[in-house]
Amino acid sequence: MVISPASSFTFEQLTEAYNETRVDYLVPMPMNVARLMEYCRVYDVALESSCVAVEEDVVQGLGMLGVRQDRAWITRLGVLPVGRRKGTGSALMAGLVAAAQNRAAKTVWLEVIKGNEPAHNLFRKFGFHETRELIVARRAPKTEFNQAVFDQVKQITTLNHEDAIILLSHREERPNWLNETESLQNVRNLSALLVELKNGGRGWVTYHAGLLQLTRLVVEITVGDPTEVTEAILTVLHQRHKRQDSIAENLCEDAKWLGFQKAGYFDSFRRIEMKRPL
Ligand SMILES: CC(C)(COP(=O)(O)OP(=O)(O)OC[C@H]1O[C@@H](n2cnc3c(N)ncnc32)[C@H](O)[C@@H]1OP(=O)(O)O)[C@@H](O)C(=O)NCCC(=O)NCCS
Repeated sequence: MVISPASSFTFEQLTEAYNETRVDYLVPMPMNVARLMEYCRVYDVALESSCVAVEEDVVQGLGMLGVRQDRAWITRLGVLPVGRRKGTGSALMAGLVAAAQNRAAKTVWLEVIKGNEPAHNLFRKFGFHETRELIVARRAPKTEFNQAVFDQVKQITTLNHEDAIILLSHREERPNWLNETESLQNVRNLSALLVELKNGGRGWVTYHAGLLQLTRLVVEITVGDPTEVTEAILTVLHQRHKRQDSIAENLCEDAKWLGFQKAGYFDSFRRIEMKRPL
C-alpha cells in the first residue's frame, strides 16, 4: 500500500473515494464535488498535506489535513468498508501526523462522532485526548413565537458580513475549528443581529441564511443571563426567518444551550473534540 498526497488526485476522485468510505457511516454525509471543494476552501484543507491510501491502483481510504498557523486539523478520514482492520486507517493517521509535523504544527485537533468506537479507539491509539463534547443541534421551522420573549426585547440591530466577522473575532469562548473566525470569514454573506433586552441583557448571533436553511450559527452573550438572552436572540432570529430549518454545530453543553433548547433546538448528535500536541 502506498500513501500519496491528495493533491495528486482530482476532486472527482477524492469525492468518490470519500463517499465510498462513508456508505455505512453513523451519520450519513454524502458529498458532491462542489461541496468538497467548498469544504476544503472554508476549512483551509491543504491537499498537499492530505493523504490517500492506494493499493493495486485502487483507492483504499483517505484523510485530510487543515492547517492554520501552528495548528492542524484531521478531517474526512475513512477507509473502504472491505479494507478495514488491515492497518490502512493507521497508515493514513501516521501520514497526516507526519504532514502536520512538516508544516510545523504544534497541536493537531480532530473530532469524532460520539459512539464511533473504531475511530475513537484509533485516535486514542495515536495519542489524542478528549478536550470536550460538542452538540450538533437542529430546529424545525415554526410559525408561532413566544410573545412574552419579544416583550423583553428593547432593541434589535442588523449587521452585515464585515460586522459579523468583527463580532466573531472578539469571542470569549474558544471556538472549535468549524466555528473559528478563520472558517467563518471564508463563508460568504454572513449576517448578524445584535439584541438588547429591557433588563440590560445583551448579545448577538451571527449566521448564514440560505434559502432553505440557517447555518453557521454562533451566539455570544455579552451581558445578562446566558439562557434568557440566548432564547431572546434566537426568537428574534427565527421570527425573521420563519421558513428555514436551522442547524447549529458544535455547541457546548452550557447555559446558552438551555436557551437554544427553549428556542426549539434539539440535540441531533454529538462530537467529541480531541487534540494531540506534537
Ligand atoms: C475508523 C477507520 C478509519 C479505521 O480504519 P482501519 O483501516 O480499520 O484502522 P486500522 O486497521 O489501522 O485499525 C487501527 C486501530 O483502530 C481501532 N479500530 C479499528 N476498527 C475498530 C473496530 N471495528 N472496533 C474497535 N476498534 C477499532 C483499533 O484501535 C485498531 O487498532 P488494533 O487493530 O491494534 O486494535 C475505519 O473504521 C472507517 O473508515 N470508518 C468509517 C469512517 C469513519 O468513522 N471515519 C472517522 C471519522 S472521525
